Amino acid sequence: MTQQSSKLAERVRQLRTEIEHHNYRYFVLDDPEVPDSRFDQLVRELREIEGKHPELVTPDSPTQRIGGTPLGEFGEVQHQIPMLSLDNAFAPDDIESFDRRIRERLGEQHEVDYACEPKLDGLAVSIVYREGALVQAATRGDGTKGEDVTHNVRTIKTVPLRLQGSGWPAVLEVRGEVFMPIAGFEAMNQRAREQGDKVFVNPRNAAAGSLRQLDPRITASRPLEMFFYGVGLVEAGKLPVQHSGILSALKDWGLRPSPDAAVRRGVSGLLDYYQQMQRRRPKLRYQIDGVVYKVDSLDLQRRLGFVARAPRWAIAHKFPAEEEMTVVRDIEWQVGRTGALTPVARLEPVFVGGVTVSNATLHNIDELHRKDVRVGDTVIIRRAGDVIPEVVKIIPERRPKRSSKVRLPQHCPVCGSMVVKEDEEAVARCSAGLYCAAQRKESLKHFASRRAMDIEGLGSKLIEQLVDGGLVESAADLYRLTEDKLAGLERMAEKSAANLVAALDTSKKTTLQRFLFALGIRDVGEATAAALAGHFGRLENLIGADREEIEQVPDVGPVIAEHVHGFFREGHNREVIQALRRSGVDWPDVARPLGSDLPLAGKTFVLTGALSGMGRAEAQDRIRELGGKATSSVSSKTDYVVAGSDAGSKLQKAEKLGVQVLDEEQFLRLIGS
Ligand code: IVH
Repeated sequence: MTQQSSKLAERVRQLRTEIEHHNYRYFVLDDPEVPDSRFDQLVRELREIEGKHPELVTPDSPTQRIGGTPLGEFGEVQHQIPMLSLDNAFAPDDIESFDRRIRERLGEQHEVDYACEPKLDGLAVSIVYREGALVQAATRGDGTKGEDVTHNVRTIKTVPLRLQGSGWPAVLEVRGEVFMPIAGFEAMNQRAREQGDKVFVNPRNAAAGSLRQLDPRITASRPLEMFFYGVGLVEAGKLPVQHSGILSALKDWGLRPSPDAAVRRGVSGLLDYYQQMQRRRPKLRYQIDGVVYKVDSLDLQRRLGFVARAPRWAIAHKFPAEEEMTVVRDIEWQVGRTGALTPVARLEPVFVGGVTVSNATLHNIDELHRKDVRVGDTVIIRRAGDVIPEVVKIIPERRPKRSSKVRLPQHCPVCGSMVVKEDEEAVARCSAGLYCAAQRKESLKHFASRRAMDIEGLGSKLIEQLVDGGLVESAADLYRLTEDKLAGLERMAEKSAANLVAALDTSKKTTLQRFLFALGIRDVGEATAAALAGHFGRLENLIGADREEIEQVPDVGPVIAEHVHGFFREGHNREVIQALRRSGVDWPDVARPLGSDLPLAGKTFVLTGALSGMGRAEAQDRIRELGGKATSSVSSKTDYVVAGSDAGSKLQKAEKLGVQVLDEEQFLRLIGS
């Protein structure tokens, strides 16, 4: 070897080590050290050298993820240790019996520690590393024989081609789930739709379809990821004696386990974990269909053994299905606060996402036509987390013989006024404004809601009664209600009438921001209301402002400015405001008028963790009242991160970026409480 070529070989080695290290920081630790551009530069240099010196290319080079030619068919892989499946549990009782069986079998008095992980909705894959290099990857298949998908698994960026660190066994078979994150799945389907290609029904099918491609270039173009959750065959090496320990060893070697894995003790610990994951489920980047509990001690696992095809030491605790099939009985139109007409499907009741659902939204007329939902259709409906149930799609094969396309009504189903739809807008609206009882009811519900005037005890049902009974027309009428007037209403005991009158009284003391939000001006959400309050300081200043002035407010564009300006030009609206003021609705002027003089003007805050003295919303309100901005993600532009108890990744990020961190006490001092 000439001196120059040995220098090149050394450089290639360096580049590979560095690239693998950055991959590890990025994919496993989720904490990159360098910007993407630096990473790309390293890969470019490596490719360049390898291009000129093909003799230096090795199969485990980071440039070699996509192998040569497409395969004719998949090879077969025999699993040395069978890939088992899991028993399913649905109810807390099932988990209690699971734990009881384990303790009885072990003769254990004490509570057992369990490793808990999300149950990812993808497909199980086994990967073999020899001397730290990826040599084989296979699907689960029937548990004993799977398909050789090495060429495809190599293209998944979260799967290392070489193990990091040291101490790994000479032969290490790892197992985990290949999945497609929801955002990637949606983007891929969107592209497919645009090109007239077939779309996948769900991320699981998309992951499976992408992995079973004969041409690895196709797999490489799909956004697949992998989490590791266990080991199979291990030769010449030692592993920790606890499942949780194995997961952290895997992490050190670059094999990313789920970041949500945790150890919990006893049945109460398991159920607590289940609830915690169920709450987080709608916010996760990927689909999970439950959680998995595994006895943490490998020694206990060994003593427990297997039954048929599943281990006795593990169980899957499934979440209720989020998608179900049912039949559309009718399609009705609901009129919202701003007159928007929303088509709603009335359904044969079904149990989905843990509750019985009999209505699902169809969003708007364009969406309804795109999905072509008709009365009598069999449909798939979806309810995820607290999200409103929606119709995902129809099953065309089950459509009854005679059915007709749904048309937009020409008249408002509530008040009979004309319905208008601007071409460029997706929504159609009843044109009557507050003359329409539906819009009036919805405006009042919004006015009374917690984040607006916060009138306790004034719920939807009561508002409907009040409007239908002619007791209330506008928000101002609410404050004219007396115990006597309320007494005549259905289900209104003397006590609750008194409570409501008291709650109305309490709600009169508010803030300008809340009041502006409560007015229900189109497109004025909480943040815009806060910006308007901060900028104008006094309501009179805002009412007197012209459109250009309103447009000066940060984040207010011409459309919103037009809505705000138009709202206050409407005589009826000004009358209602005056009447509200006369009934005693009041707020302090925002500290000093005009945002730029306020004490926190121009300062951006991020709140993380829990504050003991006030709720997050309240803290955000305070920041905005004082002219500051409360945002949700930390960047170099953030001025302060307020860290309560249990602060998480945002705090770490702040520390990394050198953003000033305030504890609760310092924060309270800053806002003068
Ligand atoms: S452990 C003996 N852990 O669920 C242990 N499986 O029903 C068997 N799965 O085929 C697997 N997330 O595809 C395990 N954290 C997790 C999992 C998980 C998803 C899938 C896997 C397996 C199926 C078993």
